[in-house]
Amino acid sequence: MAITVFENPLLFKLSTAHTHYSFRINQIGLAEHISYDVAVDDGSGLCQLAEAVNAHPFEPYWTDLTTFPQANCKDLLPQEFGGFNTGDYRIPALISKGEDGTPATDWRYVSYRVYSGVPILEELPCAYVGNDSDVQTLELKLVDSVTGLAVYLDYVVFPRCDVIVRGLRVVNEGRRAVTLERVMSLQLDLPAGDYDSLSLVGYYGQERLPERRALGRGVLQFSSVRGISSHGVNPAFAVMEQEATEDHGRVWGFMLAYSGNFLGEIEVPQMRSPRVLLGIHPELFSWRLRPGESFTAPQAFMTFTDEGVGGMSRHFHDFFRNHWLPSRWALCQRPILINNWEATYFDFSEERLLDIARTAAPLGVDMLVLDDGWFGRRRDDTSSLGDWFVNAGIIPDMAGMVRKINALGMKFGLWFEPEMVSENSEFFRAHPEWVIQISGRGRSIGRHQMMLDMGNPEVVEAIFRQMKKLLETVHVEYIKWDCNRTMTECGSSWLPADRQGEVAHRFVLGTYSLYRKLLEAFPYLLIEGCAGGGGRFDAGILRYSPQIWCSDVSDACERMRIQMGTSLFYPCSAMGAHVSACPNHQTGRVTPFATRGNVALSGAFGYELDLAKLSKEEQEMVREQTALYHQLNPLVASGDLFRLEAPGRLDKVVCWSFIAKDKTQGFVILCRLQMHPYAAPLRIRLKGLRPDAYYQIDGKRLTGKALMSVGICVALEERDAASRILIFAKEK
Ligand code: DGJ
Repeated sequence: MAITVFENPLLFKLSTAHTHYSFRINQIGLAEHISYDVAVDDGSGLCQLAEAVNAHPFEPYWTDLTTFPQANCKDLLPQEFGGFNTGDYRIPALISKGEDGTPATDWRYVSYRVYSGVPILEELPCAYVGNDSDVQTLELKLVDSVTGLAVYLDYVVFPRCDVIVRGLRVVNEGRRAVTLERVMSLQLDLPAGDYDSLSLVGYYGQERLPERRALGRGVLQFSSVRGISSHGVNPAFAVMEQEATEDHGRVWGFMLAYSGNFLGEIEVPQMRSPRVLLGIHPELFSWRLRPGESFTAPQAFMTFTDEGVGGMSRHFHDFFRNHWLPSRWALCQRPILINNWEATYFDFSEERLLDIARTAAPLGVDMLVLDDGWFGRRRDDTSSLGDWFVNAGIIPDMAGMVRKINALGMKFGLWFEPEMVSENSEFFRAHPEWVIQISGRGRSIGRHQMMLDMGNPEVVEAIFRQMKKLLETVHVEYIKWDCNRTMTECGSSWLPADRQGEVAHRFVLGTYSLYRKLLEAFPYLLIEGCAGGGGRFDAGILRYSPQIWCSDVSDACERMRIQMGTSLFYPCSAMGAHVSACPNHQTGRVTPFATRGNVALSGAFGYELDLAKLSKEEQEMVREQTALYHQLNPLVASGDLFRLEAPGRLDKVVCWSFIAKDKTQGFVILCRLQMHPYAAPLRIRLKGLRPDAYYQIDGKRLTGKALMSVGICVALEERDAASRILIFAKEK
């Protein structure tokens, strides 16, 4: 059983294949966390693992019990859900304000229930399960008796992938309205120790690069208040023992399934037991809860492994592929696409697009995607967002054009930016009140556009109606869903004054509702997320879009780093990755065509250039790459990822491998970012093989043990950006 409940004292043990998560209800009804670590089989004896509380005489403690005041020092107890202003000085999971204006909460146990299957959230993305009996959920009810607030904490246990999904619902069971000012989806109190954090940080064009930091006392925050999850910081991070590496050591991974403002916090308090919190950012957030009303927080995922960062990544990858990415696409091959953006930008015509399709079809490309510029009166980025009807001046008959593309054996995809509006658009002129803005304050503009007030259902419906009309007349099988600005002057003319704190969260809920409406009406649609490159690469979007454009930087060397960083938390099959033209449009770098293909083959594969401008030789390479995609992609889609090292190198070789779950086959991709002359031979040590089995690799026959310990030397062209793919297979 995934969930075991012991009585006297009440103790909960959540078991996955390799981990145990346990907590108990203590003498005064606090939910006291015991441990989240490797699986141990100690039954109710797990209680003995609880940390001894060593309070000095000046610590406040709760007065209900005089026999053992130490256990009542709330500030020292590891807890499942810490209170506020009642003795626990660490950062609280929830802050509310009642009508008397005194913010305080003290959460005590009321009841629990365990059931098979997963909770279904109506407005937010939530995990799914094929068979209810595979997964169990524990719902724990705690209340604060003074405010009358109840919290229902969900622990959804996914045994096979070692992931626990946390959820939270707050219900106002009291008699007075309450304003929630902070609601964190996940809290985890870790034992005292020396830890590092690992997060994904960056900028436009340098998204999700790993950053490891030693944790000292104080609070470390990872956050976005940009209205979207952002290029700068990703809503996923880890806490790890300081000695943990890629392959060894204890790592706790956390991720929020949310696409808006988020806050992850690691507080190392005086006793050095870190408290981890993750949820909606409290800045620009408040939520009015009248008696009887409830608020549901986004789900958060957590995992534990003692197999280093690599182990954490594989847990999350398996979880995404089996319980999160849209099931229609999760494990299967996506169409190879060619996108016209870097080939033409805004300068395209029907004939030019058909030419691209005619060149691409015989080379094995499955779909033509028409990017920005086909709608309203748009000829550059200054107008027409919100006017989702075809610009007949450019494409007189889009349905007819798509029929011609389909006749070539290709599918057709279309770009939208549904949550945005241009000042110069029919949509805005008709409804200037439908944008995010604060009356009397003026408006910041980003890329000549504004964000729609997606919290208003009328706005969502108006955009949906336009998109639906188009999709009913043109055979569109894929949408690139872009989002090219961030939120400022966060306010809404639709909401009353006391609900202005809800605007940013309602924007996210409205966006998700549009995704759901579209997918309900057109279930066959493949939607690729995008936000000025990879500015909204998060689990929230991945519940609807199985792939997200990773970055606007398509240079192979930069992409190697970006995709490597992204892979810490997200599966490679979710990373939109295209072969583009050289010199690269963003970096000016010239890389071999083969390397551009090799790098993109690790992701959701495609092209972003004018194939007609390639040499015959390069076109032949396209044919080979599209064939190779069909061979390798099943391993990317469902195999295990191992990030490899090339020890002792000065010349920055980035390297990883995908291996089938049964370890019978796989491939390594390695890319030298920068050449240094006369470097030591390039030796790669593989991982995850069967030690005693023989493998054929690069013309050699070696045991898994030899490949994983001694490693093999790999010849690589002597130049920058040289790369190889080495396919290997176990002997029968
Ligand atoms: C930003 C995206 O990241 C690009 O790929 C492209 O679609 C442009 N927007 C179009 O405006």
